[in-house]
This record gives sequence, structure tokens and C-alpha cells, in this order.
Amino acid sequence: MRLNIYLAAALLLSGLANAETTMQPMMHQDSMPATGQAMQQPMAPMSAEDSRPLVKMTPETIALLRADMRHMMSAYATIFSQLADGKHEEAAKTIEENLGMTAMKTHPGMMKASQELPENVRMLGMNMHKSASELAASLKNNPKPAAIFTGMQQISAGCSACHMAYRVR
Ligand code: HEC
Repeated sequence: MRLNIYLAAALLLSGLANAETTMQPMMHQDSMPATGQAMQQPMAPMSAEDSRPLVKMTPETIALLRADMRHMMSAYATIFSQLADGKHEEAAKTIEENLGMTAMKTHPGMMKASQELPENVRMLGMNMHKSASELAASLKNNPKPAAIFTGMQQISAGCSACHMAYRVR
């Protein structure tokens, strides 16, 4: 699956190139479903202990980014309801504008974060936005439900890859 190649590449980068962190996220097998195989397994309950490496951003950027994230979360629910109603064109628009490459250029927190984040973390964001834009484009060709599920899975895996790999505070 292409997704796994993206993730593997991003995670490899994060392990190799992250000067900010003291620990390599690839080593945290317990807290990070990095491989396709792990992602398909139900996860054990999360421990409250947070061993994710810290990525530094200004408090202002974190606050803006959190607002953007809440916005994405709510768009996510809207997308599922539009897809369930078979409104593919509307869903494509919501996906592109709220989660896709377009979103990256219009949301203030994401724009600021992309200037402050180390390259490896920025890549995780970029891959998630790319997956969303690909799904939005593919919806124009009236794809089968399985292909739509796969597209949504790729976006979700993109959200999760970043959340599982890093903390910002
Ligand atoms: C490039 C990394 C990255 C990606 C990709 C990402 N997030 Fe986040 N997300 C963050 C960071 C950083 C925070 C702030 C964490 C904190 O406040 O400690 C966050 C916080 C959140 C929050 C909590 C907001 C709040 O009010 O505290 C939600 C909800 C969220 N993300 C949803 C999503 C969804 C849904 C996606 C995918 C569509 C996604 N995220 C993709 C980095 C990311």
C-alpha cells in the first residue's frame, strides 16, 4: 500500500533527521502504530505515561493550530455524513477545503506551524493533506465505497501518525 510507503518514509525521516528530539520515535513500538501491520491490530489501552519526543513551537502557534485541529475534526464528521448521503461532490469540496492541500494554505495555525516545525514533522502534516486532496480528486470519478473507505483510512492514519509520534507540550 502506498500509504505505508509514505508513513515509512516519513517515520524514517523522523528517526534520521530530527535534531530536536532525544529519542527516536521509531523505537516506540508500544505507543506508535507505524507499520501497516500494527495499524490493523486493535491497540492496547494507552498508558498515561507520555514518551513522545517534544517538538517545540511557540504557544501562539500551538493555540492557533489547536483551533485548526478542532476545525478539521468537525469537518471530518461532516465529510462522513456527506459521504453517507452519497453527496460526493459536496464531500470532495469539504475534504479539499478543510483537510486537503488547500486547507494547509488557508488555516493560520497550519501556516505558522509549517514555518516552525522540523522538516520530518512537517512531512507528516503534508502527507495527511496530500491523502485528503487525493481522495477529494478521486471522488469525481464516482469510486466504489471500498475505495472511499481506503481514502478515509489514509487520512485518519495521517492524523494518527503525527499524534502518536510527537507532543508539543
Ligand atoms: C503534523 C501533525 C499533525 C497532524 C497530521 C494532525 N494533527 Fe491534530 N494535533 C497536532 C498537534 C501538534 C496538536 C496539539 C497537541 C496539544 O495541544 O498538545 C493537535 C491537536 C489536535 C486536536 C485537539 C485540539 C484541541 O483543542 O486541543 C484534535 C481534535 C486534532 N488534533 C485532530 C486532528 C485530526 C482530525 C487530524 C487529521 C485530519 C489531525 N489532527 C492531524 C498535530 C497534528
